[in-house]
Amino acid sequence: MYKRFDKNYNIISNNHVKDKYFKLNIHVGNNVIYCNPGQFFMLNLPGHILRRPFSIHDINMQDQSISFLYKVVGKGTKELSQVRKGKIKLLGPLGNGYNLNNCEQENCNNIIIAGGSGIASLYILAKKLKKTGTLYYGVRSKTDLICVDQFISLNWKVIVATEDGSIGYKGYIVDLVENLIKKNDIIFACGPHNMLIKIQQIIYKNQISGFISFEAKMGCGFGNCQSCTIVINNQLQKVCTDGPIFKICSFQHYKIK
Ligand SMILES: Cc1cc2nc3c(=O)[nH]c(=O)nc-3n(C[C@H](O)[C@H](O)[C@H](O)COP(=O)(O)OP(=O)(O)OC[C@H]3O[C@@H](n4cnc5c(N)ncnc54)[C@H](O)[C@@H]3O)c2cc1C
Ligand code: FES
Repeated sequence: MYKRFDKNYNIISNNHVKDKYFKLNIHVGNNVIYCNPGQFFMLNLPGHILRRPFSIHDINMQDQSISFLYKVVGKGTKELSQVRKGKIKLLGPLGNGYNLNNCEQENCNNIIIAGGSGIASLYILAKKLKKTGTLYYGVRSKTDLICVDQFISLNWKVIVATEDGSIGYKGYIVDLVENLIKKNDIIFACGPHNMLIKIQQIIYKNQISGFISFEAKMGCGFGNCQSCTIVINNQLQKVCTDGPIFKICSFQHYKIK
């Protein structure tokens, strides 16, 4: 089922989670049924003309709400973090999302790989996958970890890497994953571009399946402005409409235009 809406909705809460992270919870009424893991919304932030993209972090059918987990990185997110109540304009759901019927396989191990704030879009995926699996989660330092308890409460195994070695494996999460990949693993990944490039190479080399969720600078979010274009195997792809989820076996190399 597909429907896109562009309306003002009531903010239920917008709370500080940890460090630079906040969680925005919005009541969207019946429209909650059109929201799927891997999709995103363009949010009108106070005082900004260009909307900003944020992935769906969680969907709550009972109270008809969706939530966004976001990191304060610039002016827009800083101002958003100061909003406590009122209405906010959302455009979405946008993007393809994960086709869970196609990506779930009986005999596969689900592996989620998250780098930094990439974890935000992967919790709802873990919730909706029929089988639990393993989360490999890489951050700079132990204080950057978020959502770990949420994955554990879904019975996911969590393996952590920190660049400074303050907890778990010392180094990059991809270096750890590289040595642990098995033939029947299926990978879902979101994080910084350098991490995604390495994951794509690991998956291609091991000839396993996987899905990468890309981020790119976005102007419109629905295919009109070209600002999110990337090149995959010499073909132009728009992250907002062709993605943000791309099946990894389907391409060997990608580069940002
Ligand atoms: C499909 C999609 C889903 C996203 N989901 C989330 C999410 O769930 N949680 C979350 O915290 N962030 C998410 N982002 C990133 C988020 O959109 C940006 O962090 C936000 O737009 C920054 O706005 P700002 O005004 O605070 O920063 P700006 O003042 O516009 O920029 C501040 C800094 O942030 C960087 N930045 C801006 N936009 C992006 C971007 N799209 N990707 C990476 N860096 C960016 C800029 O290069 C700059 O260094 C997503 C991005 C995309 C494309
Ligand atoms: S954001 Fe405008 S075309 Fe993708």
